Amino acid sequence: MVKHEKLQKWVDEVAMLTTPDAVYWCDGSKEEYDRLFKIMVKEGLAIPLNPQKLPNCYLFRSDPSDVARVENRTYIASKTKDDAGPTNNWIDPNELKDTMKALYRGCMKGRTMYVIPFSMGPVGSPISKIGIEITDSPYVVANMHIMTRVGNEVLEVLGEHGEFIPCLHSIGKPLAEGESDNGKWPCAPLEKKYISHFPEERTIWSYGSGYGGNALLGKKCLALRIASVMARDEGWLAEHMLILGITNPEGKKKYIAGAFPSACGKTNLAMLIPTIPGWKVECVGDDIAWMKLGKDGRFYAINPEAGFFGVAPGTSMQSNPNAMKTINRNTIYTNVALTKDGDVWWEGIGYDPPGALIDWTGKEWDAGKSNAPAAHPNSRFTAPAQQCPSIDSDWENPAGVPISAFIFGGRRPHTIPLVYEAFDWNHGVFIASTIGSEVTAAALDLKVGTIRRDPMAMLPFCGYHMGDYFRHWIQIQYKTAPDKLPKIFCVNWFRQSADNKWLWPGYGDNSRVLKWIFARCDGTGEAVATEIGYMPPEHAIDVQGIHITRETLNELLRVDREGWREELKLVKEHYATFGERLPKELYDELEKLEKRLSSK
Ligand code: GTP
Ligand code: SPV
Ligand code: MN
Repeated sequence: MVKHEKLQKWVDEVAMLTTPDAVYWCDGSKEEYDRLFKIMVKEGLAIPLNPQKLPNCYLFRSDPSDVARVENRTYIASKTKDDAGPTNNWIDPNELKDTMKALYRGCMKGRTMYVIPFSMGPVGSPISKIGIEITDSPYVVANMHIMTRVGNEVLEVLGEHGEFIPCLHSIGKPLAEGESDNGKWPCAPLEKKYISHFPEERTIWSYGSGYGGNALLGKKCLALRIASVMARDEGWLAEHMLILGITNPEGKKKYIAGAFPSACGKTNLAMLIPTIPGWKVECVGDDIAWMKLGKDGRFYAINPEAGFFGVAPGTSMQSNPNAMKTINRNTIYTNVALTKDGDVWWEGIGYDPPGALIDWTGKEWDAGKSNAPAAHPNSRFTAPAQQCPSIDSDWENPAGVPISAFIFGGRRPHTIPLVYEAFDWNHGVFIASTIGSEVTAAALDLKVGTIRRDPMAMLPFCGYHMGDYFRHWIQIQYKTAPDKLPKIFCVNWFRQSADNKWLWPGYGDNSRVLKWIFARCDGTGEAVATEIGYMPPEHAIDVQGIHITRETLNELLRVDREGWREELKLVKEHYATFGERLPKELYDELEKLEKRLSSK
C-alpha cells in the first residue's frame, strides 16, 4: 500500500478495469531491469546482443504496423474542439473515454500491470514533474528506466498528497488462458490505437502501440503535449528542443536551444564535435527543453529526460562519434538489423554489412539482393544520457542552464539559406511559426519527402490551439527585458543541388554556423541586414579546412528572392488555418517581409 491515497485508488481502479494477472510497483533498480530482461529474453521478445561488443545491450523487433508515432491516432481531447485547434485531432473527451474504456476492459488479461513512478527532470527539483505510468509492457518499463528517473525516491517526493500526471498505457493485446506472445511484439491494429490527452485533467491514455512516443508516455505525451498546456498556464516554455553548451577557444561558454522537426538533426547537433580548432560543444539534452525565466530575467532550460531515444540510421563514427560511444553498452535497440555475430547494423553506420544480416523484420537480408533497408528508417536506440562522452557538467542542474540563442530549422532542399538571424523577438517568433520541413519516417501516417509546415517543430506535440501557442510565444517576451531574451536564428543544413547532393557538409561542420551564432550573441559577429533577416557575409563563416567552393557558399548564403516569393504564398496558406487566433503581430511580420521582398 502506498502512502498516496489518490494514487492507490487510481491504480486499483485501473486494475479493476484492465484485469491483469498481477500488479507490480517498479522500484527503478538495476535488479528489476535485469529481471525484466531475463523474462523478455526467455519469451523471445528481446535478443541479447554480443556481450563482447555490446555489453548489456538488447534488440527488439516491433510489429511492422507499430514502428513510429501515429499522428492520425493522436488526440487532444480538450473540452471543446476549438481549444485543440485546427492542427490537432479532437474527439469529445467523454465520448473518447467511453470508447477507450471499452478497449481497456480486460485488456491486460494474462499480463502483469506495471506501475512506474517517474520524474521528468531531476528528482525533487522545483521544475520537475512527476508522472505515474501504468503499462502492461515490460519493454516500456525498461525504456522508462533509461529515459526517465524511475523509483521509490519519486514516491517519497510525492508523499501523501503530491501532484502527479496519470499516464495509462496498454499495448492492447490481452492473452487468453495458456496463450503467449510467441516471441512476437504485441500491439493492437492501427484502427484501435489511441494516443489520447485530456489537457484540462492533465491525464494521458494510450492504447494499442508499444513504440516510442506512443508508449513511453513521459516523452512526447507528458513532457510536450501536457507540459505545453501547463507552460501556457504558468508562463514558461515546454519545447521540442535540444540544448547544447558551446565554449570558444578563450573559454567563454554559451548555451543554445534548438528546435528541429523529428529526425531533422537534434541528436546530431546536441552531440556535435566541432571541426574548428579550440571550440567545444557539450550536450545537455537532445529532444526536449523546459524553460523558465530566472531571477536575472534570462531563460533557464532543463532537459526533463534522462536518456536518448535516438534515430539509428545515419549514426556513424563519422557523423556522430559521441552517439556511437554512448550506445556501445547498456542500450536497447529497436528495429535495427542484426549481424551473424550478435552485433547491430543500419544504413549509414559507416561500413558495409559484414555478410548476410537479419533485417528488422527478422528475415535474412543480403546487401546484393535485398532492396528494402535492413534497419527500419525510424529504428532507434535507447541509451542513458550520462554515457554520452560530451555530456555537460550541468546537465542535471535543477536550476537549468541560461539560454543565449534559439535556433529553428528543418529539411529544406531549396530557398532557406544556411543561416539567418531574426531582427527582433516578434520577427523570430514569425520565423519559428513558419518553419517547414520535408516529412521524415518518424511518423507513420505521413508522406515522406513532402514539405509540411511544422511551427517550432511542435506541430505534432502542442497540446492546445497553435494560434494560442504563438500568442504565448509573443507574450512571454513582456515578462523580461528585451536584452535578456535569447536571439533567434533559422538554420538549414539540408540545402541540395540540382542533382540532389547536400550543399553543406553538415554534422561537425555545423559548428562553423554555431561559431557565427555565438559571435552574434556576444555582440562581435558581423552581419548584413537583408530582406529576410540579418545574414553573415561570406567571410564571417569560418570555412578554413573544408572544401567548399565560393559558388556553393554563395548559394548557401544567398537570398533566393524568387523562392521566397513562392514561400510567402505557402506561409499565407499556413497562416490561414489559424484564422482569428493567429496573433496580429505575426500578420504584421508577414506583411513587412512581403514589403521588403517586393521593394527590390
Ligand atoms: P527525433 O529523435 O525524431 O526528434 O530526431 P532528431 O531531430 O534528434 O534527428 P537526428 O539527429 O537523429 O537526425 C536524423 C537524421 O538526420 C539522421 O539520419 C542524421 O544522420 C541526419 N542528419 C543530422 N544532422 C545532419 C546534418 O547536419 N546534415 C545532414 N545532411 N543530415 C543530418
Ligand atoms: C520524435 O518523433 O520526435 C521522437 C521519437 O523523438 S518519439 O519518441 O517516438 O516521438
Ligand atoms: Mn523528437
